[in-house]
Amino acid sequence: MRTIMLLNTKGGCGKTTVSTNLCACLAAMGKKVALMDDDPQGSSNSWLARREAKPLSRIQGIFAAGHVPEGVTRSWHLRVEPQTDYLVIDTQAAINRDLLVDYIRRCDIILVPVMPSRIDIHAVAHFIGDLLVAGKIRQLRRPVGIVANRIKQNTRVYRELERFLNRLEIPLVARLRDTQNYIQAADIGCGIHEMIASGIEGDIESWKPLIDWVENVEIDPALESAKPILQNPFHSRGAVRSPKVAL
Ligand SMILES: Nc1ncnc2c1ncn2[C@@H]1O[C@H](COP(=O)(O)OP(=O)(O)OP(=O)(O)O)[C@@H](O)[C@H]1O
Ligand SMILES: [Mg+2]
Repeated sequence: MRTIMLLNTKGGCGKTTVSTNLCACLAAMGKKVALMDDDPQGSSNSWLARREAKPLSRIQGIFAAGHVPEGVTRSWHLRVEPQTDYLVIDTQAAINRDLLVDYIRRCDIILVPVMPSRIDIHAVAHFIGDLLVAGKIRQLRRPVGIVANRIKQNTRVYRELERFLNRLEIPLVARLRDTQNYIQAADIGCGIHEMIASGIEGDIESWKPLIDWVENVEIDPALESAKPILQNPFHSRGAVRSPKVAL
């Protein structure tokens, strides 16, 4: 199982949007997927609830930041079903540097969504500084990929974001357009890959490098087993034709 964590201490950059769409895309590819919502806002969890009634590929939901139901242990509440291929963890923005080490220990791969605004680039520069420079975090050696989100091609600020990432030598693994398609998909509990809408093909195409990266990026084999999801709880198969939702 590969555990992918969406991280950025800047709010509103697209952690939930990328988490939900990534899960929907992997599930539509026939992968067994779990989505863990570690944000008390519960946005991914409510996306899953909206999805439930629809004839779409199944995604296991784990509301790590939610109440543990009565009669259930915390580790049962956080369990990932056997044979899961991908666990995607959507996190909250409010994570301090000490907690960050704990978070990063629980994943194999880190995805950082960034919006091409000066404020966001400034914020992410600090955050990436923590990830790449701070001793303890760097020692964890997790691959980091950036997702440029809500981009408007050819704007100056977008070019600045690209230059900034090139300097850091961190891969820019996807460029996602600013489009209502993501807002509509969030409203109805699906991913853009599962929607039928005019002009959506370009947006679907823009996910290919990201899917390719999460499937193939090299993970240090020594880290493979270092995923204490159950022991250290938060807060103290082949192509399948995917169902679609017409708008
Ligand atoms: N590519 C996009 N195009 C259009 N709207 C987008 C896009 N990405 C995200 N949004 C919208 O931006 C808002 C913030 O996105 P999202 O909730 O994914 O961010 P977040 O990082 O999870 O925020 P938080 O830190 O509050 O959890 C949402 O309303 C979402 O629908
Ligand atoms: Mg969110």
